[in-house]
Amino acid sequence: MRVGILGSGLMGGKLGTIFARAGHEVVFSYAHSKEKLKRLARAAQGNARAGPPREAAQDADALLLAVHWSRVDDVLNQTGDLSGKVIVSCSLPMNADDTELVVAHTSSGAEELAKMIPKSRVVAAFNTVPSEVLFSVFEAKGNATKPSLVYCGDERRGKRVAAELIRDAGLEPVDAGPLRIARYIEPFCLLVAQLAYEGKGGPELAYRFERFGK
Ligand SMILES: NC(=O)c1ccc[n+]([C@@H]2O[C@H](COP(=O)([O-])OP(=O)(O)OC[C@H]3O[C@@H](n4cnc5c(N)ncnc54)[C@H](OP(=O)(O)O)[C@@H]3O)[C@@H](O)[C@H]2O)c1
Repeated sequence: MRVGILGSGLMGGKLGTIFARAGHEVVFSYAHSKEKLKRLARAAQGNARAGPPREAAQDADALLLAVHWSRVDDVLNQTGDLSGKVIVSCSLPMNADDTELVVAHTSSGAEELAKMIPKSRVVAAFNTVPSEVLFSVFEAKGNATKPSLVYCGDERRGKRVAAELIRDAGLEPVDAGPLRIARYIEPFCLLVAQLAYEGKGGPELAYRFERFGK
């Protein structure tokens, strides 16, 4: 797959590296310096390069949106037309100091994003794990038991693409249903962040759902 990274920070930098190492063609975009994007592409040791958001979006089978909520408009203004594109978003609708969700209960960041780019295929994924755990999970990909990763979206093709990327990253995709379920997922992300950054044991934290009684 060709994957464009929109926002090459903690999440985008690591997930882009993982996608490249899993065999995808990756374009890192949107950081304060071109040099950082080039460095990420070199370090990914796969088929990766640096480019502007427009290049990341061009011919992409999937785009990972991984910017602060306050930068969403700016990056979307630089991608060109996103009609038909699969947008996998880990971005959370946080306020400026990352202490509160600015959209909740009656909508979600994912639904608001879908309203901004109505012709694209928005899937919310990768938002429920801290960036610190991503490489360890990827390295443990061969293990029989994998951590879960919930995702949601309204559109079948987008969800199929997201599930493939989730599997490639070493996680087990858990389809939580339509995009509106992001209203439940986004507060859960803050719980995971609380456990990761304020709990004992550090931020290398993932989770797993188990069904019993079968
Ligand atoms: N970090 C996590 O563990 C985590 C977990 C779940 C969800 N999320 C969500 O995922 C999203 C991304 O989080 P993150 O932690 O990866 O954020 P981040 O590290 O701050 O990455 C954001 C990226 O956007 C770039 N950027 C910001 N302002 C820019 C500007 N004016 N011009 C060009 N580039 C700019 C940054 O450039 P530089 O690299 O140059 O700074 C960086 O590459 C957020 O919505 C967050 O809430 C994060």
